[in-house]
Amino acid sequence: MQEISNEIIGSGKSIGFVPTMGYLHEGHLSLVKASKSENDITVVSIFVNPTQFGPNEDLSKYPRDFKRDESFLLENGVDYIFYPHIEEIYPQGFQTYVIQEQISSFLEGAVRPVHFRGVTTIVSILFNIVKPQRAYFGQKDAQQCAVLKRMVTDLCFDLDMKICPIVRESDGLAMSSRNVYLSPQERLDALVLSKSLSLAARIIEKGERDCNKIKTIALALLKEIPSASPDYFEIVDFDTFEIVSTLESKKSYFLVAACKIGKTRLIDNQLIHL
Ligand code: PAF
Repeated sequence: MQEISNEIIGSGKSIGFVPTMGYLHEGHLSLVKASKSENDITVVSIFVNPTQFGPNEDLSKYPRDFKRDESFLLENGVDYIFYPHIEEIYPQGFQTYVIQEQISSFLEGAVRPVHFRGVTTIVSILFNIVKPQRAYFGQKDAQQCAVLKRMVTDLCFDLDMKICPIVRESDGLAMSSRNVYLSPQERLDALVLSKSLSLAARIIEKGERDCNKIKTIALALLKEIPSASPDYFEIVDFDTFEIVSTLESKKSYFLVAACKIGKTRLIDNQLIHL
C-alpha cells in the first residue's frame, strides 16, 4: 500500500482516505462519495482494530463480511481497498501507542478506557501507510472526530480532516454497523436515542440555556424505554468538546448521548448553533 501511495503521489495525484472497520452502510458511502468528489484516488481501509476494544467489548462478534464490503466498494468506484492482516499492522514486538490526553479522557473515554488510545494509534498507522491528502470521518462519532482532529494538529499530520454529516435511517436512527445486533423490538426502542436529542434541541430552541435541566429531561425520556440504559447525555462545546453547564449565544455545541439498548451500546449526537 505504501508503494502504491508513493506512486500516486509521485504522479501528482491526490489520495482521499476513508478508514473503516467494514460491514459498510450508507454512512460509509457518504464518506466515499465525498472523497471521490475531492480527490483523484480514493482508498478505503477495512480493519477491525483490536486495540480499540476493551476486554469485555464486542471484538469477536463485531460484524464482518469482506465479500459484501468489497462488492459494495467496487460498485461505488473505490480505487483501492486496503484490507491488512492483523499481524501486518501489529507485528510481534509492537509496543508504540499514540495517546491523546484530554478530549479522550471523558464520555466515551470514561466508559471505554482503552478505546481512544486504540483509535489514535491505528489511525496514525493508517495515515503513515496510505499517506492521504484528505481523510474522511463521520460526525456520528463526534468525540472520535474531536480526538483525531486534535491529534492531527498536535502531531502535524500533513492532511485535511473532513467530517461528514450523520446519515440516518428514514425513521431517524443513526446508521451504524452495530445496528445489526438489534432485535426487531430493540430496533424500535433504539429510536429513543435520536428522539432524546431532538427533544433537547427543541427545548433549547424555545430558550432553555441551563444544561442540567435539558439533560434531566432528555435522560427521563431515555429511561422511559425498559430496554434502554443510558450511559450519558451531555452538551459539549463544538471546538473543545468540553462539557458545558450553560449555553451561550452565537456558539455551537454538540448534544451527545450514549445508551445501551438491550446489550447493544449505541451513540448519537446533534449539532446545534445558537
Ligand atoms: O470509526 C471507525 O470505524 C474506527 O474507529 C476507525 C476510525 C476506522 C479506526 O479503527
